Amino acid sequence: APGALVDQHGRRKRKLRLSLTDRCNLRCAYCMPEHPTWLPRRELLTIEELLQLSGLFVRQLGITHIRLTGGEPTLRRGLPELVHGLQALRADGLQRVSMTSNATRLRELAAPLQAAGLDDLNISIDARDPELFQQLTRGPIEPVLDGIAAAREAGLPFKLNAVVIRDYNDSQIETLAAWAFEQDLELRFIEFMPLDNAQQWSRDRVVTEQEILQRLGSRFGIVEKQPRVGASPATEYRVGGRHRLGIITTVSDPFCGSCDRVRLTAIGELFACLFSARGTTLRDALRSGAGDAELMALIRGGVWNKESGFAAPRGYVERPITMHRLGG
Ligand code: GTP
Ligand code: 5AD
Ligand code: SF4
Repeated sequence: APGALVDQHGRRKRKLRLSLTDRCNLRCAYCMPEHPTWLPRRELLTIEELLQLSGLFVRQLGITHIRLTGGEPTLRRGLPELVHGLQALRADGLQRVSMTSNATRLRELAAPLQAAGLDDLNISIDARDPELFQQLTRGPIEPVLDGIAAAREAGLPFKLNAVVIRDYNDSQIETLAAWAFEQDLELRFIEFMPLDNAQQWSRDRVVTEQEILQRLGSRFGIVEKQPRVGASPATEYRVGGRHRLGIITTVSDPFCGSCDRVRLTAIGELFACLFSARGTTLRDALRSGAGDAELMALIRGGVWNKESGFAAPRGYVERPITMHRLGG
């Protein structure tokens, strides 16, 4: 039986987030620099290395959920092959393979990914108004809407994610909700965390759950909290008696006490927490021929030292790594 992966605060890890690339075809200012320098390809873990490490995490360390992230994971060559390769781990305890994506490439990829065994998607969409979307992401909204349609057609279940930032996209709260309700899509609003590249974070820019609920209530009617299901970070609500909606209270009510995640960057650094001051490289050991025992010791050590979590600071705190390299 695999030895559980635990940290010094007694939290067991079951979810692994694999960043496949730092590249993205959009340019949300809070996520990455306007003119980013991409990691050189040779620095990235290969598909074989990703499968090898995933095997270790699932078979030896009790990971049951893998989420593929980026940058934008659909820009990574070999993505369907990776998803297919991960299927071999189902017999060893892997329960779900998910992906967080901007949806722009799903017209081509939704069906192949579904066929390869991807279970579900989270799709990021911070604005529904086409002009604002273009302004915020530097890209058109049409491929995203088309990608969402493609996911539906392919039978890939998905949820929508929208980070809410005051005076940036908070005008979209009602617009996104109305659209999601009308299309019967599962939408989650996310409180803005101090991890943004542009260093724009401040307390006033966080639109809290309480404020979001108040706005939804006055527009759509009664808002009722639903019982918590599973280990998802979202609190679920029923709005206007009929519509589903989730809120991820990263700031007003962090879920750190039960954090079950660990993440790996595209170049093979283990980051136990989103707010970790530094990562532990696994790639160097992997490439110098380390065996499973040595790799597992590195992983266990990196996870053990995980900080207790996150307390919102008053102002921006400089991070060693931005979201486009960490994968959220
Ligand atoms: P589900 O398991 O489907 O609920 O996925 P998820 O919400 O964990 O993943 P997703 O990639 O959709 O992330 C949604 C939001 O939650 C993003 O803003 C992430 O940055 C944030 N998030 C994901 N994992 C963590 C975490 O471990 N800690 C914190 N504080 N936020 C996280
Ligand atoms: N705060 C909250 N969510 C964020 N994301 C990126 N940066 C932040 C932040 N500072 C979200 C993205 C995407 C998910 C992976 O993380 O919008 O939906
Ligand atoms: Fe886990 Fe860190 Fe996120 Fe808290 S902030 S939920 S400890 S990754």
